[in-house]
Amino acid sequence: MNQPVTPAGELMADYHAAWLPWEAFSAIGSRRSAIHGEGLLADTVRREVEDACARFGGATGADEDAELVLALYSWSALPAAAEKLRNSVAEDPGDEGFVLARQDGVTVLLAGGPAGLLYGFFHLVRLGEAAFGADHPPRTHRPVMRRRMLDHWDNVAVHDVMGQVERGYAGGSIFWSDGALTKDPARVRAYGRLLAASGANAVSVNNVNVHAVEARLLTDRLDDVASVADELRPYGIGVYLSVNFASPIMLGGLPSADPLDPAVQDWWARTTARVHRRIPDFGGYVVKADSEGQAGPFAYGRSHAEGANMLAAALAPYGGVVYWRAFVYNHRQDWRDRSTDRARAAYDHFAPLDGQFADAVILQVKYGPIDFQPREPVSPVLAAMPNTRLAVEVQVTQEYTGQQRHVCYLAPLWREVLGFRPWGASGATVADVAAGTGPGGSPGGGGGGLVAVSNVGDDRFWTGHPLAQANLYAFGRLAWDPSLDPSAILDEWIDLTFTRGADGVPDQLRHTLHAIMDDSWRTYEHYTAPLGVGFMVNPGDHYGPSIDGYEYTQWGTYHFADRNGIGVDRTQATGTGFTAQYPHPWSSTYESPHDCPDELLIFFHHVPYTHILHTGATVIQHIYDTHFAATQRVHEIRSQWQKIHNVGLVDSDLHARVAERLNEQARSAEEWRDQINSYFLRKSGISDALGRRIY
Ligand code: GCU
Repeated sequence: MNQPVTPAGELMADYHAAWLPWEAFSAIGSRRSAIHGEGLLADTVRREVEDACARFGGATGADEDAELVLALYSWSALPAAAEKLRNSVAEDPGDEGFVLARQDGVTVLLAGGPAGLLYGFFHLVRLGEAAFGADHPPRTHRPVMRRRMLDHWDNVAVHDVMGQVERGYAGGSIFWSDGALTKDPARVRAYGRLLAASGANAVSVNNVNVHAVEARLLTDRLDDVASVADELRPYGIGVYLSVNFASPIMLGGLPSADPLDPAVQDWWARTTARVHRRIPDFGGYVVKADSEGQAGPFAYGRSHAEGANMLAAALAPYGGVVYWRAFVYNHRQDWRDRSTDRARAAYDHFAPLDGQFADAVILQVKYGPIDFQPREPVSPVLAAMPNTRLAVEVQVTQEYTGQQRHVCYLAPLWREVLGFRPWGASGATVADVAAGTGPGGSPGGGGGGLVAVSNVGDDRFWTGHPLAQANLYAFGRLAWDPSLDPSAILDEWIDLTFTRGADGVPDQLRHTLHAIMDDSWRTYEHYTAPLGVGFMVNPGDHYGPSIDGYEYTQWGTYHFADRNGIGVDRTQATGTGFTAQYPHPWSSTYESPHDCPDELLIFFHHVPYTHILHTGATVIQHIYDTHFAATQRVHEIRSQWQKIHNVGLVDSDLHARVAERLNEQARSAEEWRDQINSYFLRKSGISDALGRRIY
């Protein structure tokens, strides 16, 4: 697999081009360009521009009459237009950054390093003809988050009935096939290209639940990992591995994995050195320890700081890091005991360890305290560890948001999380914490960034549901700049994906996609579990409604509905005390059922069905209203999509795939509506004020 950069044109053979169809390159490809830079990523850019020119009639190599100049800021002999720009900007934009200006009819992009050249190039692709319009002064672009990673929960071999990719809804793995390395390396390269064009820069290539086969990627299967890294490197994507904490026992034949045992430390040091010899730019490890059956330091009476620091010590000499996941909880709780609370677990385990983690440790924190529900409060851990490098983890894969059978555009959810201010209106945001510019400054030398569980598989459309591609794109864009508007990101994605070259995207298609996607997260929220309570899903596969499916199990995800009311009392006054894990003002806002935002009411409180929300509706009427309205909405978007087909605005196979998924979404939404409404009618004995039919 150690080949030179594949011509970009060959990357789009058997699968959908996603947000990089040829038409998206027409503005660049039809012009005369000059490229000044060296190194692998600069070569990638050069190749991309050459390929675009071959198709659209432009040329590279021009200097004096170039309409586009792409150059490294430090390049010694710049063409006049670029020299002029360099003289007018105060500083180098940093390795991943770039300055863009249009002056005297020339578009000039000056990058701080080869990676900046690559991101700048894809920025120009996004701009299309707009990059060559009116003159404008220099604008500097650089990522807010240095670390922008996709975690793949891919198993090398099919592990159980759920398929090869844990919580994957788009076919098998693009990295691994039949227990071996994929035979389609071009697909891996094409994935790297898509990620680079979205702004992401790292990938972890195997499941966080590391089974025996996957554990060996670290040792005797290392060549396979190196091959994946070779494919991703030309697009600036670094490679990470999920490792099993018990590897010294599983792979090294040691009797223990105790992090304070010198033999264990030595095994990790030697193993990691070997990884770095084989993959010199290897990024590091991802670890799920002491969680849902995975091994961890607790078995040896050691803390998670001791466990993580041992791996950090092995990685640090090479500049690697360990992403240590904070998703640690007791998954064998006693459902009869109302004082235990899974929501408390991550904070209880980790907040006391603040300041004890080595610089090369990044604590990877799920955005909510439970588990990627469509609605959860932001995890209090993100506000409790100013002396620790924190990464925020989200799910692009739609485990709890419709499993890529339902349309659910997730950028509005992530934007809300990233913009949340745990310390109140004048305090820092969650994005600041992840970027390393929060209250604790930059612990460990930089923030942990944004991490997402990928939604990609070997499906022809990459993501099963073609519209779910927008989530992958939006993840990269928000990691690059968390202040972006989700609707504007959607427009970028629409422009790139559905462009017809110079004619752009037909208005009707754009309007329909916005109508279908802008509010799709809200719509999903409204026909599924109400008011933040979560987890009314089928146990195991987590698809479709099962209101009591988890209610009397040991997983710690309850709603406590009875004939009088519903919700989990997480107050300090009478409940589990979870609200106290938040700083002021949120601790008191959440503590009060009157101040608590409606959408989180029954996450924090057990309330009667007649409790009046801020909207003026009772809880029970809200449940009925939202379930009827959101299901109706799904039927509407389905007919809007049908109209698009009638006028032939998208390829028929893409149209058909979306239409098939919308049929399932409509069926499933009805099922949710009927089960939820019937359940609460029977529990509460209170009928719908509007007299609609409930079974
Ligand atoms: C969820 C998911 C699991 C996954 C876990 C994790 O619980 O259902 O499949 O392993 O999250 O984040 O580790």
